[in-house]
Amino acid sequence: MWDEEFDWSRGGEEWTVSPAWWESILDATVRRVARPGQAVLEIGPGAGRFTAELLGARPRRLVLLDLSPKCLEMCRERFAPAEAVLEFVLGDGAGVPLDESETFDLIFSFDVFVHVERPEVMSYFTDFARLLVPGGHGVVHYASIDRTPEGLDPRSGWRADLRSTDMREILAANGLELVDDIYDPQISHANSSIAIFRRPEVTG
Ligand SMILES: C[S@@+](CC[C@H](N)C(=O)[O-])C[C@H]1O[C@@H](n2cnc3c(N)ncnc32)[C@H](O)[C@@H]1O
Repeated sequence: MWDEEFDWSRGGEEWTVSPAWWESILDATVRRVARPGQAVLEIGPGAGRFTAELLGARPRRLVLLDLSPKCLEMCRERFAPAEAVLEFVLGDGAGVPLDESETFDLIFSFDVFVHVERPEVMSYFTDFARLLVPGGHGVVHYASIDRTPEGLDPRSGWRADLRSTDMREILAANGLELVDDIYDPQISHANSSIAIFRRPEVTG
């Protein structure tokens, strides 16, 4: 669908609710964890709405993974001036096809995992645990249909059948630590949340 049916002529900006919403999302996500010199992995960049912000934080390396060749091509063209730090990976939608020689300080994804079902989320997070450096952070916007306000269809917005309790189980099963689980209908839509997690530092 993202490759052939979706009309990308607005670059995904139609999902930006308002300038104030955008600022609050950036405060809660990119500005909170992106720092100069990081190796960063973004899952599902689309037309690069968040990629531009991640690049603005001056990473040493930014890998874009998508299951849509078209999205990767749009980003390659849009961010051509930053080609020295960018890499493009075509995925199968269920994981990160990179080995452990490729580690990341930050893994970021917005408006992607809200549509991904539990088995594929589990498989991605197993890869995140493998590829994050100790102390490295992840920011993932995910479906939390248990947090739907009354009167709204929990699956509205094509939300996956995933709950905040699933996210906690998936993090724990992969040895990842939940740092924050942001639910605010004003900033993350009414039936989704933002998990901020990290791979614990090695101790002892
Ligand atoms: C709704 S768009 C969001 C794009 C961008 N993150 C944004 O916020 O503007 C979803 C993006 O995720 C990609 N995508 C969807 N499912 C995916 C999966 N399972 N693995 C990797 N990418 C996926 C789509 O191809 C598309 O680029």
